[in-house]
Amino acid sequence: MTDMAAMQAELANHYDLTPSMARAKEMGEIYGRMDRVVPEADFALHAPYIEAINRLKRERNAVILAHNYMTPDIYHGVADFVGDSLQLAIEATRVEEDVIVQCGVHFMAETSKILNPDKTVLIPDMGAGCSLAESITAEGIEEMRAKYPGAPVVSYVNTTAEVKAASDICCTSSNALSIVESMESDTVIMTPDQFLAQNVAAQSTKNVVYWPGSCIVHELYTADDMKSYREGDPELKIIAHPECPPDVVAEADFTGSTSGIIGWVRENKPKKAMLVTECSMASNISDSLPEVEFAKPCNMCPYMKKITLEKILWSLHTMSPEVHVDPQIAERARQSVQKMIDLSSSLKN
Ligand code: 13P
Ligand code: SF4
Repeated sequence: MTDMAAMQAELANHYDLTPSMARAKEMGEIYGRMDRVVPEADFALHAPYIEAINRLKRERNAVILAHNYMTPDIYHGVADFVGDSLQLAIEATRVEEDVIVQCGVHFMAETSKILNPDKTVLIPDMGAGCSLAESITAEGIEEMRAKYPGAPVVSYVNTTAEVKAASDICCTSSNALSIVESMESDTVIMTPDQFLAQNVAAQSTKNVVYWPGSCIVHELYTADDMKSYREGDPELKIIAHPECPPDVVAEADFTGSTSGIIGWVRENKPKKAMLVTECSMASNISDSLPEVEFAKPCNMCPYMKKITLEKILWSLHTMSPEVHVDPQIAERARQSVQKMIDLSSSLKN
């Protein structure tokens, strides 16, 4: 990417990005979705970007698909669709616009490209990676196949296109157990998240073997911390993502995908909730759930946080950086992703 100063100067030449309380006030409806967590003065900084992005998005015939871990200014201000990895992948199959701006990490943008080879897929920062996706290559998949001959490979969507292409099927945190259970073989290889695999194994009839990758955000939580938070506040509901270690999951009142977590909190409206996942989750839903007090701590994903309003505007302004996937790899990867989407919807019905 162009250096920040040059980028800011070029943007200032084309858009009025002066912080403005007056413009912020005109955008009261959008601000109302985040005013519990975003101070007014900060929104005055965001408002001109939100306005410029939303206008440019229409001019470019673009859609913004945003993950639940985006900050509230992105989640409530410019996203056309928000969701967990499975929902974003499904939504990507329905996009009619010419351009997808993926506000999330690189593997999510690659998944959108794999499902839409003829569309332009942009990611506002190419450096938005993922510790899980970086933990395994296609060679790693072949190693696992050699170690467990005949066992199918179920790869988390948090992987590169090459890894998806080398796998039999993908899964996400919301369908991992049912995908593993649907495999015919007794032994199933799961990659690359050891904790998701162990959490699935705890509920599965299969012999689940796995790759030793982990998420740098969720691996930091410990069962001892959970116990002491609960002792300190017996009313606290602990809600965890399945990328957390199994002893953390064992302490939780509910475990689910990012959208599963949001759904559980909306339905159960606990007095106090601790979301054992990325920090923006609580911020994004706290305005619509004023009756719920969200307890800290949470952990930040440094990759997700690379995506900012400024970079989204730059991305739409320059129509870059664009995500490309080798067509042959994309075709094989698409089969793994599509199998997962099809199986997920047939298991639901
Ligand atoms: P979800 O599929 O639950 O949204 O998880 C994606 C992710 O990267 C969590 O760390
Ligand atoms: Fe990857 Fe973890 Fe960040 Fe999710 S939270 S994108 S799994 S590093």
